[in-house]
Amino acid sequence: MSRAFNFCAGPAALPEAVLRQAQAELLEWGAERASVMEVSHRGAAFEALVAQAEADLRSLMGIPDDYAVLFLQGGATQQFALLPMNLAAPGQGADYVVSGHWSQRAVAEGEPHVRTRVLVDAADAAGLYLRAPEVDAAAVDPDAAYLHYCHNETIHGVEFPAVPDSGAVPLVGDFSSTILSRPLDVARFGVIYAGAQKNIGPSGLALVIVRRDLLERAGQPRARVLTWAAHARAGSLLHTPPTFSIYLAALVFAWLREMGGLEVMAAINQRKAQRLYHAIDDSEGFYRNPVDPASRSWMNVPFWLHDEGLNAAFLEESREAGLLALKGHREIGGLRASLYNAMPEAGVAALTDFMGDFARRKG
Ligand SMILES: Cc1ncc(COP(=O)(O)O)c(C=O)c1O
Repeated sequence: MSRAFNFCAGPAALPEAVLRQAQAELLEWGAERASVMEVSHRGAAFEALVAQAEADLRSLMGIPDDYAVLFLQGGATQQFALLPMNLAAPGQGADYVVSGHWSQRAVAEGEPHVRTRVLVDAADAAGLYLRAPEVDAAAVDPDAAYLHYCHNETIHGVEFPAVPDSGAVPLVGDFSSTILSRPLDVARFGVIYAGAQKNIGPSGLALVIVRRDLLERAGQPRARVLTWAAHARAGSLLHTPPTFSIYLAALVFAWLREMGGLEVMAAINQRKAQRLYHAIDDSEGFYRNPVDPASRSWMNVPFWLHDEGLNAAFLEESREAGLLALKGHREIGGLRASLYNAMPEAGVAALTDFMGDFARRKG
């Protein structure tokens, strides 16, 4: 049996070359004669690994020197709460753009810590999220601690075609499901953060890229372990980090550099997404994706069968064909294919071939 093509939204497929390297050095890592999981995070070898991971990420994303890079525990959801704790003074407000499930969650988790205001909610009259909203920089509260938005809504498959303008207020972006999929102008942001388990590595790790001047904000009374500045001072080694997740992330960053960097990944990702959207749009209504074409995600493609009664057959037969995890999120139903960096073009071709064949047989 060969490895299947895994379209899971997260934890998601990892590059096969990365998994093979991890497999080859699982028992003895480098000169350590022990697994990377078994060595101290305070040892020179692991410190060098973290430094290399950060250097590779900085080079891939062109992260300017006035930004700190943090590898933290707790996933993206924990950052929903750490964000106001670190950036907002007691009693201060923060503006939020809501474009789907995850930006809603950011508001909900932020609420105990900051006066949240929803600047714009992109739901249509039926409550559906089908397009990235326009953000009016002039409408952002100039006293807000930050403006938060989610660049790519993983469940709704809605991605901002461009980075919104937040005026003078620091812009904070949840990039969990689109980071490293294409180049990004980091200097537009106060903070970029992402859970790792889609385009970075295994779950349990969150990446935070934060402009250094923001680390000087007092924020709110909180423990040191919840303080970004403390993690920055400690080089992400304030306490025991998720060492195996960081190791795999480092392998992913090295793999991306070998692939040619983010311009190359962007071209591949665009081709993959176009192939799948064409298969949907050219199916004469057998498949449907209702997202506004300008806001369609390159990473997460939800789609629906014209007859939802065929969902179970689609899922069973696709699984038998080696195409995994195509079930849609329970919140919106239907089907969904996630096409992160680790999904090869051959995987998308196998999916569109299967979809064409399924439509011919059941249409
Ligand atoms: C865009 C986005 N933000 C946040 C999260 C939450 O991430 P975590 O489960 O790492 O807390 C997810 C998870 O899928 C996501 O897709």
